[in-house]
Amino acid sequence: MKDQLNAIKIRAEKELSQVTAVQELENIRVKYLGKKGELTSVLRGMGALTAEERPAIGQLANGVRAFLESRIEETKRKLVRHERSLLLQKEAIDVTIPGKSRALGHRHPLSMVMNEIEEVFLGMGYEIAEGPEVELDYYNFEALNIPKNHPSRDVQDTFYVDDNIVLRTHTSPVQIRVMESKKPPIKVICPGRTYRSDEVDATHSPIFHQVEGLVVDKGITMGDLIGTLQVFAKSLFGEKTKVRLRPHHFPFTEPSAEVDVSCWVCGGTGCRVCKNEGWIEILGSGMVHPKVLEVCGIDPEVYSGFAFGLGVERVALGKFNIDDSRLFYENDIRFLKQF
Ligand code: PHE
Repeated sequence: MKDQLNAIKIRAEKELSQVTAVQELENIRVKYLGKKGELTSVLRGMGALTAEERPAIGQLANGVRAFLESRIEETKRKLVRHERSLLLQKEAIDVTIPGKSRALGHRHPLSMVMNEIEEVFLGMGYEIAEGPEVELDYYNFEALNIPKNHPSRDVQDTFYVDDNIVLRTHTSPVQIRVMESKKPPIKVICPGRTYRSDEVDATHSPIFHQVEGLVVDKGITMGDLIGTLQVFAKSLFGEKTKVRLRPHHFPFTEPSAEVDVSCWVCGGTGCRVCKNEGWIEILGSGMVHPKVLEVCGIDPEVYSGFAFGLGVERVALGKFNIDDSRLFYENDIRFLKQF
């Protein structure tokens, strides 16, 4: 029995030294120390020993068991440590590998120009006002002194949802909404998308963008309008830019003027961009018509105001020296990438 115990010890030790996984270790434990294990069955046979033999063999058997238990424990710890370090190695992140870069886009050229215009006016203390693109006929036309069937509707033909609802033809209706809801002093710009039933060509599109401005307070004059437009034109097109007003007619302003700026390419001497005129028309403007103020509940005897409206596409074409506004809507990456 003594030889048997020693043989078990040697064999188990050898097997333990070859173990490479925690699961194998468990198999060995069951094989020797389990209920039906080899050591266990040897111990069971102790009953057959004589009283003299028993203590020495008992001691030896307990020694072997303690030895195996501690070796299994130790081997297990080693294996776990080893497996963990393999895992760490496998999952290690090389922080020095360059990251995958994502292609970052940028704003659309129309948005860039729009933002630039907004910045100029925010700098002058204006607030930004917005309104619906699907607008009531009342706000888009009637409140702006353009009655139904009036010939001036012809130049702003639009898309009718029904008799009283249209896609707005300008952002002027936002000004009516602002004047209805707010007492002067008022100082807002209204940027946004606008619609007209125009045929598409190099300078026309049924969808386009405007930024309109409105100032209403006591004692506002044409001088304030001109000064504001000068500051605006210089910020957008350069310090040397000059502004010129030509008399015009809009139903919602009186007097009204179309506004030209000196050509940003040639500075006024005449070139291809300004068609040799030296001037480029960029917006419409005027003093808010007393009827319009009245409709909004503002007393024209006490208050006066100016308004202006410019086409964003027109300005963008000029600034970027592009000759076809269709490029803005086609969203060809090769075009957009250049800005
Ligand atoms: N709403 C006019 C347009 O779209 C522009 C404009 C605005 C003119 C304000 C005068 C005053 O044509």
